[in-house]
Amino acid sequence: MTVVIGIPASAADETRSPIVGDVVKKLAGLGARVLVQRGATDASFATPESLGDVDWVDTSAEVIAGSDVIWTIGNLAPADQAAMRPGQVLMGLLTPYAGVDHANALAAQGITAFAMELLPRISRAQSMDILSSQGSASGYQCVLIAAARAPKFFPMLTYAAGTIRPSRVLVIGAGVAGLQAIATAKRLGAMVQGYDVRPETREQVESLGAKFVDTGVSAAGEGGYARELTAEEIDKQRAALAKAVADADILITTAAVPGKKAPVIVTRAMVEAMKPGSIVVDMAAEGGGNVEGTVAGKDLLVGSARVVGPTNLPGRMPVHTSEMFAKNLLNFTTPMINDGQLTIDWTDEVIAGTALTHGGRVVHAGVAKVLGLPEPTAPAAPAASAPAPTTDNAEGKEA
Ligand code: NAI
Repeated sequence: MTVVIGIPASAADETRSPIVGDVVKKLAGLGARVLVQRGATDASFATPESLGDVDWVDTSAEVIAGSDVIWTIGNLAPADQAAMRPGQVLMGLLTPYAGVDHANALAAQGITAFAMELLPRISRAQSMDILSSQGSASGYQCVLIAAARAPKFFPMLTYAAGTIRPSRVLVIGAGVAGLQAIATAKRLGAMVQGYDVRPETREQVESLGAKFVDTGVSAAGEGGYARELTAEEIDKQRAALAKAVADADILITTAAVPGKKAPVIVTRAMVEAMKPGSIVVDMAAEGGGNVEGTVAGKDLLVGSARVVGPTNLPGRMPVHTSEMFAKNLLNFTTPMINDGQLTIDWTDEVIAGTALTHGGRVVHAGVAKVLGLPEPTAPAAPAASAPAPTTDNAEGKEA
């Protein structure tokens, strides 16, 4: 039997869809078919002509019923999730840390759920890394949002009556999104500074032509991620960053710690000390915010600075982010398809490390720990071919 990949429509406020024509062709080459809900790709501008040889149905229920593997951008609508069969596979950004009830519901349904947020950050998995592809788009978008709202030019500008000084941009958090924000602000001609708690980011920031802000706080955590700061470190960091924030025309914050609420790095007092007309774009808004007073989805005045808490940044450029998303999912799924058949190799650390639920249980050790669930130790069913995934992404990661 040929593997069928199903694409139900995304949520109403989601513009991306996890399929593009190139990926349909690649799947056909593997012997797989694609079943799409009519209209599912309209908002990402993937026309039926561009998708090519796929099968169409009218409802998400028909997609779920007719597919072996469901590709989705985010969590399914409750009715669609409830319609999934035990053993059916679900892949997408499934918010694994959202809560015990959420994870348990997927498990109780018997769904084999791959939460792409859990993908081990190892070299071999880079081409499957949805957090990176979408994070890169987010970093880029933050700079465009800031530039569109700024009452100043980004670049230095010489005109007949003199010279305009370039804007000063400070980017806090120099992971994938932050580095893309730095690169984009540089391309627009701003004077850029970058900051992160992981010491290796100094070289990465400087290689983009930006200046690194040294706060004396170093907080490399497990597996190359940052760890949470102590109260003392937070005070030291804020004191050292206050001047850089006050001097900036544009502040972009992108800091995150996996499985935790976003760290509050910039206080209200620090924002109030910014110059009139300053713009703050808090990319972490949806995760609680790096800036005190940010509200996700709102554009607020704090002192005389405008603080923007954007939501679904990758959804602002769905043509390219859908293409990236679909190619990431294709690269993750390809090793599971042999001669058109679905065969999941649970000994593969990338596959095992991305699994959230399988065989009726939450099988990801890192998520289980954060959610306070029992540590997954026993093999997932069927025992012979499917040992329980126990790889914590934080441990399997390479820079
Ligand atoms: P993230 O989205 O989890 O965090 C963003 C940034 O916030 C990180 O650079 C982190 O160090 C920083 N941060 C956290 N707490 C902070 C604080 N209190 N103050 C200032 N900065 C703070 O990170 P992302 O972008 O997902 O990647 C993080 C790491 O993963 C990096 O080491 C990156 O190089 C690595 N990576 C490796 C890949 C691979 O080898 N396949 C692929 C992508 C990323």
